[in-house]
Amino acid sequence: MEYFTLNNGIKMPMLGFGTSNLKGMECQNAVRDAIEVGYRHIDTASSYYNEKAVGRGIKDSGINREELFITVKVWPSHYVEAHKSIEDSFRRLQIDYADMAIVHHPCGDYDACYQAFEELYNDGKIKSIGLSNFSIPQIQHFLDDYTIKPSLVTVEAHPYNSQYILQEYLEKYNLVMEAWYPLGHGDKNLIQEPIILSLSKKYKKSPVQIILRWHIQMDHSVLPSSKNKDHIFDNYNIFDFNIEREDMGKIAQLNKNQLYKEFDDAMWNRFLDWHPDFDDQE
Ligand SMILES: NC(=O)c1ccc[n+]([C@@H]2O[C@H](COP(=O)([O-])OP(=O)(O)OC[C@H]3O[C@@H](n4cnc5c(N)ncnc54)[C@H](OP(=O)(O)O)[C@@H]3O)[C@@H](O)[C@H]2O)c1
Repeated sequence: MEYFTLNNGIKMPMLGFGTSNLKGMECQNAVRDAIEVGYRHIDTASSYYNEKAVGRGIKDSGINREELFITVKVWPSHYVEAHKSIEDSFRRLQIDYADMAIVHHPCGDYDACYQAFEELYNDGKIKSIGLSNFSIPQIQHFLDDYTIKPSLVTVEAHPYNSQYILQEYLEKYNLVMEAWYPLGHGDKNLIQEPIILSLSKKYKKSPVQIILRWHIQMDHSVLPSSKNKDHIFDNYNIFDFNIEREDMGKIAQLNKNQLYKEFDDAMWNRFLDWHPDFDDQE
């Protein structure tokens, strides 16, 4: 494993296990398998409807809580009651602090959420703060106007969209960029790009391992997800080789600013109108 030291001194594993598409027993088993393989960073959110299963998977693994880096998120329609949202997440996950709490989307009263996060941070309930899908001007607002600075910004990133402008900006302020959809949500066109296949042969690693290693060498935190135990194992085994500089450049040429998931005002409004009961899950 390789680690970041966040701008507040907290140590964070660069590779995390993504859980958004996992539910119930499948999620519980995948989280347990991931921890057994060696993952120590688990990414979840109330809106994934799987916190109870993630919590059971952690419990099944038998690992000590302190060895894990657990990320939680607050959904936009819950921003004004962010304290309760975080406490509910802790109850479902069977934990009493989070290593990272993330403001999930840049819509609604996200300042109310951030103010609650500052209080929770000062109380030791959350160890660091992150932003998800926020733009550069919005990130600048948090940097300028709050005492506790965000440590991380998570966005869609993969070789088809390396987000290099955002990353350059974040590096100036010592914020980590985290890549969600690191495998393009499993897009075979990306995974089977000729350059990825040829590097797979050269380094004797799978195409997915090449993409994940590229993320690590780009200094991204990276959150691949999988239901498949073999994939979970393979995705972890990316710390025993290095992609040469020239080959990193070849992967960079795949960038075409493509997003698989575009957000717009209509979507933000739907998020704000959605008032789910996140306890209603297995
Ligand atoms: N903050 C946000 O707004 C946000 C939004 C979206 C996602 N996320 C986070 O990002 C994580 C990743 O997103 P994602 O799961 O949708 O996309 P992803 O990790 O890019 O891709 C997952 C897909 O890749 C396949 N895959 C994984 N490992 C593989 C391997 N070794 N070989 C072949 N196929 C492989 C998986 O299939 P198998 O299951 O068959 O392996 C699955 O279909 C989420 O779980 C979540 O934690 C955050």
